[in-house]
Amino acid sequence: MVRFKQRDIISIRHFNKEELLYILDLAKQMEQMDNTELLKGKVLASLFFEPSTRTRLSFESSMKRLGGSVIGFAESGVSSAAKGESLSDSIKIVEGYCDIIVLRHYLEGSAQLAADVATIPVINAGDGANQHPTQTFLDLYTIQKTKGTLEGLTIGFLGDLKYGRTVHSLAYALSHFGAEMYFISPPSLQLPNDFIDVLKDRKVKCHENESLRGISRRLDVIYCTRIQKERFADPVEFEKVRGIYRLSRAMLEEVGIKNDLKVLHPLPRVDEMDDSLDATDFAVYFHQARNGVPVRKAILAAVLGAIA
Ligand code: CP
Repeated sequence: MVRFKQRDIISIRHFNKEELLYILDLAKQMEQMDNTELLKGKVLASLFFEPSTRTRLSFESSMKRLGGSVIGFAESGVSSAAKGESLSDSIKIVEGYCDIIVLRHYLEGSAQLAADVATIPVINAGDGANQHPTQTFLDLYTIQKTKGTLEGLTIGFLGDLKYGRTVHSLAYALSHFGAEMYFISPPSLQLPNDFIDVLKDRKVKCHENESLRGISRRLDVIYCTRIQKERFADPVEFEKVRGIYRLSRAMLEEVGIKNDLKVLHPLPRVDEMDDSLDATDFAVYFHQARNGVPVRKAILAAVLGAIA
């Protein structure tokens, strides 16, 4: 039985296939549902200790479009964290002011820590390089909408697979759908072994490559990611991989691709994806970002018990 009411959303690993599909079906219904009073009287606390445009604003928009309201801060420097308050104390205080907490934090495991101390639901909006589960729901929704199915696809993950939390979450989720996966990165940014091991245990066919050349024609989807400069301990190491990939229309034509390839990117992009791609049928990343609203409306409605 699918049950989301009062549930924390911390890691995509906590959800089975039926639960993933439930949220995607609900998101489809939410496309038609705006300016409702479904969450009237409910308050969301939006706590972002790291920068965000899409996740924060789409959560806030979703809550407001369903009749709820939002409190919070977009920058930890204006919260009492700047005075040294611990995350667990902040959560204990904030839960007295709201019905649900959306948390982005630079520390891996911070969302689980918040969920452990809170008596209300906590949604992980990205914890360090670990997980970004609500991004995964919208990535799945975008793939399902643009490819017509989630089953049996061949996906190429390109870029920073070490620090890219969206890759960590999405690769696991796609393991429910019989995906074959190509992980394309420089050696220093490969998907960490523990993620590869989990995927292999789940019988996923995994391949590791340094280039799209020779494999690009097999791919149904390329999931491109930014090199996460802010997570490098040593700036010299970042400089070694800066600009190593630049996806462009000409580059894709040169290496060869399927006609119905779709290119996703969680955004923001910096220099890994050229805007010559934007006007092509391959580019779905702006639609992907927009899908954050119906998907996050679905998650909020389900967790706050507004939908059976
Ligand atoms: N995709 C994503 O998490 O974007 P933001 O960092 O802007 O929220």
